[in-house]
Amino acid sequence: MKTPLITLLIALVFCSCQSEDTQKTEVASPNKNLVVDFDVNTEGRPYYVVKFNNKTVVDTSYLGFEFKDAPAFHKNFIIKNTSSSTFNETWQMPWGEQLDVVNHYNELKVELQEKTSPERFFNIVFKVYDDGIGFRYEFPKQARLKGDIFITEEHTEFNLTEDYNTFWIPGDWDIYEHLYNTTALSEINALQFANHKNLAQTYIPENAVNTPVTMVGADGTHLSFHEAALVDYSGMTLKVDTENLNLKSNLVGSENTDYKVKRTMPFNTPWRTIHITDNAPDLIESNLIVNLNEPNKLGDVSWFKPMKYTGVWWEMHLGKSSWDYGMTQDMSTWTDGDKSNGTHGANTENVKRFIDFSAKNNIGGVLVEGWNTGWEHWIGFEDREGVFDFVTTYPDYDIDEVVRYGKEKGVDIIMHHETSAATETYTKQQDTAFALMQKYGMHTVKTGYVGKILPKGEYHHGQYMVNHYNNTVIKAAKYEVAINAHEPIKATGLRRTYPNTISREGLRGQEFNAWATDGGNPPEHLPIVAFTRMLSGPIDFTPGIFNIKFDEFKKDNQVNTTIAQQLALYVVIYSPVQMAADLVEHYEANPEPFQFIKDVGVDWETTKVLNGVVGDYVTIARKERETGNWFVGGITDEKARDIDVVFDFLDADQTYEVIIYKDGENAHWDNNPLAITIEKIEVSKGSKINVKLAEGGGFAISLIKK
Ligand code: NOJ
Ligand code: CA
Repeated sequence: MKTPLITLLIALVFCSCQSEDTQKTEVASPNKNLVVDFDVNTEGRPYYVVKFNNKTVVDTSYLGFEFKDAPAFHKNFIIKNTSSSTFNETWQMPWGEQLDVVNHYNELKVELQEKTSPERFFNIVFKVYDDGIGFRYEFPKQARLKGDIFITEEHTEFNLTEDYNTFWIPGDWDIYEHLYNTTALSEINALQFANHKNLAQTYIPENAVNTPVTMVGADGTHLSFHEAALVDYSGMTLKVDTENLNLKSNLVGSENTDYKVKRTMPFNTPWRTIHITDNAPDLIESNLIVNLNEPNKLGDVSWFKPMKYTGVWWEMHLGKSSWDYGMTQDMSTWTDGDKSNGTHGANTENVKRFIDFSAKNNIGGVLVEGWNTGWEHWIGFEDREGVFDFVTTYPDYDIDEVVRYGKEKGVDIIMHHETSAATETYTKQQDTAFALMQKYGMHTVKTGYVGKILPKGEYHHGQYMVNHYNNTVIKAAKYEVAINAHEPIKATGLRRTYPNTISREGLRGQEFNAWATDGGNPPEHLPIVAFTRMLSGPIDFTPGIFNIKFDEFKKDNQVNTTIAQQLALYVVIYSPVQMAADLVEHYEANPEPFQFIKDVGVDWETTKVLNGVVGDYVTIARKERETGNWFVGGITDEKARDIDVVFDFLDADQTYEVIIYKDGENAHWDNNPLAITIEKIEVSKGSKINVKLAEGGGFAISLIKK
């Protein structure tokens, strides 16, 4: 692994200018295409306006706060001072979509103060990039605002100027695992999705959306709203005013408090972000979210190695085996199911089968779910505290032997901690649990938070849980453990600061195809995810299902893509841990397509988004670190398409052995998902090929240096 941080260039120009009360302040992006105007109106209300290519994309949008036991930050402010600066650095990702990241922006800091007593003050800081903006509130130390601050609501507005085509999920306080909807902004109706049967916990209190939420305008302007550096604060949903085309922050709350955020002065809020581009691919190539986070605080994290992994996982979701020792659970209704006929998946012999298979196939890890006692009480039990302990194995799982065997074969065991959202138990157990991992030399854990949060009344995305997730990452780092969280808080770029934050779920993953009662993830799901959820950070989607229909296990469920699209996902969906999720026997029966999974990289030097339209299709090329091999993946929604791939990104004078895996003649996600054509082709820098993608299809290309 490379040196975690190399600052190639830092230029800091600073100017401080005293302004009149009414003076307008402005900051433009380095290329001048994006301009933010800030001012206070005649009542002293702070607001901002954003222009992109001279067009107003965010019109007069007010900013402020309401507090418990203190007057609001609403109006009566004057601009005390403003200052601007330019920043330009290049830093390196220890693992990631690319090695070098350019962080170039212009900053405007506005210091605001109440015009009259008590003359409290706060700052608003804007960072304007070529591909978007971030702004946050800073509450500096002051005599008339001190101690604990209780925020009952943050009032950040995004007042839009067009009825954008919007790709959104409901503003659920407890889960992001919803299908994306594509509607006009004025037609967003999140409340219709309350109480989805397949969700173990869900709470949608308002007509709001979760972020990232992405919008496409009539002239091709692309906007995506999110947040960066979510630390010691509540997650932000965006309440939609469908009449006035306005989004307003709506922080996730708690049933246990009459405020949404508690902070001790002084403090800063997370960054509120807007990606703003004139095309879809630039959204994915943007580094806005990671750039708005602080540099690496952990130093050398080379103990974590990006890897592909297999595991005892899909077989439970299919109902072939169980997590618990002697029962099965019905995932489609999240209740206790048939208590007989259980076959425990995480037994020594089965795990060794995965180790053998992984060792043979260039796969670095094996995930083992259901290894520890407590799964009998996983679902349907109100009192879940104390049920899992993360050290006690079921009698048929010999952890010493499994780890020893893995080491012999060069395969890491990936730990699994399903907390069942019983957070106090997990917090108490963490030192013991991570120490056990350290003893075995395990560096990766998948955590899970299925169910309503305990303590009761808290939500997955509120401040209590934001702190729980962040504290878990910080504690894990002390034991050289990296976290892949399921049922997580949204990604906000904290992987830059804590690079042991490797991946997360935080969307409807592959598992829904195994048991959802609503038909699973439709073909358009991932062409939307690539331009929404993926803008926030790595996704543990768990691709690679070859047995698309799995009628042997579940007649009413299937994966809604072709097999070629499953291969493409290894390139399209980014994660430094990438699962080969299907059963070993399904891979062994299909060695030709499996060759791509064997070959594909998982840690990238460069990423290029070759083309794409939000919700329709996307093609991404990534160059592997160390080897310099390239991999290309393209996926489409339910429409068949012809896609041109131009290989202008290849190294000149380099020859490659090139294999394309594409939808076969008459392939179709439903009628004929397994039809795949695999062939060697000749390409070099500048070549162009045309690929036919089937309905719900895709293609993958490996370019191995000769
Ligand atoms: C839900 C997770 O998303 C899934 O991957 C896991 O297998 C189950 N919880 C059990 O922890
Ligand atoms: Ca899940």
